[in-house]
Amino acid sequence: MERVRIFDTTLRDGEQSPGVSLNAMEKLQIARQLQKLGVDVIEAGFPITSPGDKEAVSLIAREVKGVVVAALARASALDIETAWEAIKEAESPRIHTFIATSDIHLKYKLKMDRETVIERAVAAVKLAKKFTADVEFSAEDASRSDLDFLCRVVEAAVKAGATTINIPDTVGYAEPEEFGEFIRKILEKVPVMDRAVLSVHCHDDLGLAVANSLAAIKNGARQVECTINGIGERAGNCSLEEIVMALYTRKDVLPFYTGIKTEEIYRTSKLVSNLTGMPVQPNKAIVGKNAFSHESGIHQDGVLKERTTYEIMNPRLVGIPESRLVLGKHSGRHALKERLLELGYELTEEQLNEAFVKFKALADKKKEVTDQDLEAMMEEEIRKVPETYSLEYFHISTGSTIIPTATVGLLKEGEKLEEAATGDGPVDAIYKAINKITGLAPVLEQYSINAVTSGEDALGEVVVKLKNGFGKIVTGRGVSTDILEASAKAYLNGINKLLFDYQMKGEKQ
Ligand code: KIV
Ligand code: ZN
Repeated sequence: MERVRIFDTTLRDGEQSPGVSLNAMEKLQIARQLQKLGVDVIEAGFPITSPGDKEAVSLIAREVKGVVVAALARASALDIETAWEAIKEAESPRIHTFIATSDIHLKYKLKMDRETVIERAVAAVKLAKKFTADVEFSAEDASRSDLDFLCRVVEAAVKAGATTINIPDTVGYAEPEEFGEFIRKILEKVPVMDRAVLSVHCHDDLGLAVANSLAAIKNGARQVECTINGIGERAGNCSLEEIVMALYTRKDVLPFYTGIKTEEIYRTSKLVSNLTGMPVQPNKAIVGKNAFSHESGIHQDGVLKERTTYEIMNPRLVGIPESRLVLGKHSGRHALKERLLELGYELTEEQLNEAFVKFKALADKKKEVTDQDLEAMMEEEIRKVPETYSLEYFHISTGSTIIPTATVGLLKEGEKLEEAATGDGPVDAIYKAINKITGLAPVLEQYSINAVTSGEDALGEVVVKLKNGFGKIVTGRGVSTDILEASAKAYLNGINKLLFDYQMKGEKQ
């Protein structure tokens, strides 16, 4: 069995998903969870792209130990110096520098000839090497590059000191057999590759990212770049949970292992989905809501007789909590603490007190409080930013023949503020009343509602994306048994985040 390193790029390529924008605290939360999950490398960001990104990378580099923290940089001095500035306090810092090698990129994007590309790659690796011994070089659009030229670039980068060589299928064009061959040939044609780890980074434009990564592993790649839930630029990247579980489940034909603690997969997936506001499709392999559900009678009968008839993995292996009744309204603090601990939430006394108040309110409204309910409650808790405004009450008057009108009461530093507004529907009326109170009017870019559990008294989860005047997008989330209340809470969560962001950056509202 050989080890395959897992390089997670959720916070860099994943954050490049359209509409996703995470603040520094959210990135830190994800980075901490990735460390718990056992990834080998966390690509924390691309520091040159914005001061906010650089700040988030520095925070992660300072706070998250026991894992390599990488920062991305183009093959230019300023990019590399900025990347180093951001990660220099990391326990194990890595600079990841890249330049494109395909003719199409050279001609239209870089407007550079092949020799200049080699010179730039070598200069970039040498500069990065002055800062840290751990340097990764990526040949962007490698899979569409001329193999002989690519091999020259790879050889030059290794000789300049790169310790990892990454071969991206940047546009998700590769086909598994062809890509496996491509990797094998690079290793054959570049003998100095015995001094570096060969990595792959596959995009999912044709739905082949995981298959291509597996083919690469079979042909000598020993690092895979991937993201949680497969998020990333366009159709996304190779999904971490899929590649890891494929290696785990099919050891018989894939004699490789990773350092991933598989029981942390589900929690990580949930966290990333909640913080990015990108829902996981129900039929998504490994972490989708239906991945372990059996609908047909024949299947249900089979699973009841023997689980392995229709399940190739035990859901517990990926940390999916069993949907069983846990607590009711008579349960005490100790029972709640124990159950939350089993679900992976270690709370301080103060956090437990807050969680207990919420739990009691929930148990009053719901007959049964399941693991999923507790998770939804806790996800709301961990997403907390300082509550500049909190919801005190709301009243709605609506119907098919009247104009929906909302009266909303908010609390700000103990002061009660109230406004009324009309809208196109009850949610719109609530949001307009909140805008009147806060003086903010962000654009509602996205609104979605989901039932956390089944049944009439299910918790409703609302996720909104709000965009402010500077183009900053935040995700707000709210849960309640009442969907209008969940809508109001989600909107306020987003507004509080925008305000928190303004405070952090000293920006005007
Ligand atoms: O897709 C790609 O080529 C990349 C590189 C920067 C590694 O994301
Ligand atoms: Zn990429």
